[in-house]
Amino acid sequence: MTPEPASATEPSAPRLAAAFAAVRAASCRLVDGLSPEDCQVQSMPDASPLKWHLAHVTWFFETFVLERFEPGFRPFDTAFRVLFNSYYQTVGPQHPRPSRGLVTRPDLARVLAYRAQVDERVGQLLVQRTDDAALAELVTLGLHHEQQHQELMLTDLKHLLWQNPLRPAYARRWPLAPVAPQPLRWIGHDGGWAGIGHDAQRDGAFAFDNEGPRHRVHLAPFEIASRPLSNGEFRVLARSLDGTATGPMTLVVAKNLDDVNESVNILKRSLAVAIPIVTGLLALLVWWLTGRVLRPVESIRREVASIEGHELHRRVPAPESGDEIARLASTSFMFIFVEVPAPPWKASTTNWKRSARTCCPVK
Ligand SMILES: [Fe+2]
Repeated sequence: MTPEPASATEPSAPRLAAAFAAVRAASCRLVDGLSPEDCQVQSMPDASPLKWHLAHVTWFFETFVLERFEPGFRPFDTAFRVLFNSYYQTVGPQHPRPSRGLVTRPDLARVLAYRAQVDERVGQLLVQRTDDAALAELVTLGLHHEQQHQELMLTDLKHLLWQNPLRPAYARRWPLAPVAPQPLRWIGHDGGWAGIGHDAQRDGAFAFDNEGPRHRVHLAPFEIASRPLSNGEFRVLARSLDGTATGPMTLVVAKNLDDVNESVNILKRSLAVAIPIVTGLLALLVWWLTGRVLRPVESIRREVASIEGHELHRRVPAPESGDEIARLASTSFMFIFVEVPAPPWKASTTNWKRSARTCCPVK
């Protein structure tokens, strides 16, 4: 999550105060439009209720910033120290993660009041101690921590809403900018020994706690994509595994679709060439077969057309195929032309011929 940027020309202390206000407000915007029930439910042990996220990131500022820097510090609620501690052993015990959804008290309104009070108190510290580098570093760490939790809030909420048979939508239109994916390349790496983790000289002073200490690892040869993959470029299969030594686990297998996509593209190109050729050949074949089938009919037509009035004894040739055309030819059923003499009352018109097409069976 990216906070609303403060002006780069501002001194660092006002910039930090603006960033603090922006990040904290962004968390509250994520639950705008959601009900207290939406914020309460824990959809699985690996997820957390949104209410817990909102309280936990606030607990971070209260525990690590206010408790250290605020004169006369008093906690908002002493019970929150355990309820909203995640894994910080040095701070003390934690409420079990799988049971976070069972904590119906404090309710959402009290958690939001907790946030508002801590925001006010941290804001005052930032105004009073503008030159305190340690305070600025801890507040910055807390903001990065909260931004991580904002992503967790969305993934946990997505899992929660997906399980609702009514399929509620979190937002009808997510404000993402359209992205045109670049061609994907695979970059090979020979492997070997490599350094991993935060390097203060190269990366700057700030690092998350899970980025240190820096250490050496041995890498097997591998390839990595030149850009992040989209959902359309791989398939993921997830399957629950029971009875493992460490308890229930989920096996996730992902396979990219390069081979499939390449095969589909080859098939498309082949069909684009083959379909016109095959269609043309089929048309030629149909034309040739039709001509071959109708050839006896044409022969019969030509024979009939050549019969004169005095050749009524002639017969059309019957093909040896024995099919319907052969049977038609052998019925001696013919069309003949007959000259009809002129009627007497029209005898004045002499030497006229009138051809009338008459159909009669000839046996
Ligand atoms: Fe956390």
